[in-house]
Amino acid sequence: MYHETKKIKPKKIVDLGTGCGSCAIAMARALQELDNGGKIYSFDLDKMTGGSQMREGTALSEVNKKFSGMGLESFITTTGGDVFKTWVQNPTDFDLLYIDLDNTWDKIYDVVMGNDFITSKIREGTPTFIEGGHPMHPRMNEQTLRDFNNKNLIPKMEYLHLIYYMEIV
Ligand SMILES: C[S@@+](CC[C@H](N)C(=O)[O-])C[C@H]1O[C@@H](n2cnc3c(N)ncnc32)[C@H](O)[C@@H]1O
Repeated sequence: MYHETKKIKPKKIVDLGTGCGSCAIAMARALQELDNGGKIYSFDLDKMTGGSQMREGTALSEVNKKFSGMGLESFITTTGGDVFKTWVQNPTDFDLLYIDLDNTWDKIYDVVMGNDFITSKIREGTPTFIEGGHPMHPRMNEQTLRDFNNKNLIPKMEYLHLIYYMEIV
């Protein structure tokens, strides 16, 4: 996400699933180097699920302390609470969206189709990244997407192969 941020030069990043903050830190470092006034709005539960390297129940405020300790507090604003009741219900503008919510295709669908504003921004081509995609990923792979699409929801989601696989020969 550091390299994507450097390429896209976003002003408003929405990061769903702060977790231990590694992705937010990578993007914040890129913004710091770009010096373009860009900010990250990062969302997680007040007490995390433990889906990342954080212990289950870790408070979002602990991660904020980490951001401050690294001098990144001016780049990252966090908001606590269920993202479906916070940002998805009342989305703010964004020019880069990153979704890492212990992802399942159902959750991704509920975010991207959860609000007309979000859907139209993504349709316009606003860069949107999701955690997952590798064939070995337990929940987010091509087969699980085919299974999800068999539910016949309209519109369907398509699988784009991005940079998730590197072969070393
Ligand atoms: C895999 S972690 C995110 C890792 C993070 N991107 C990083 O760089 O460390 C997933 C996070 O999503 C959060 N999460 C899951 N469902 C959520 C929801 N409905 N609302 C807000 N946060 C949620 C969990 O608490 C967890 O911290």
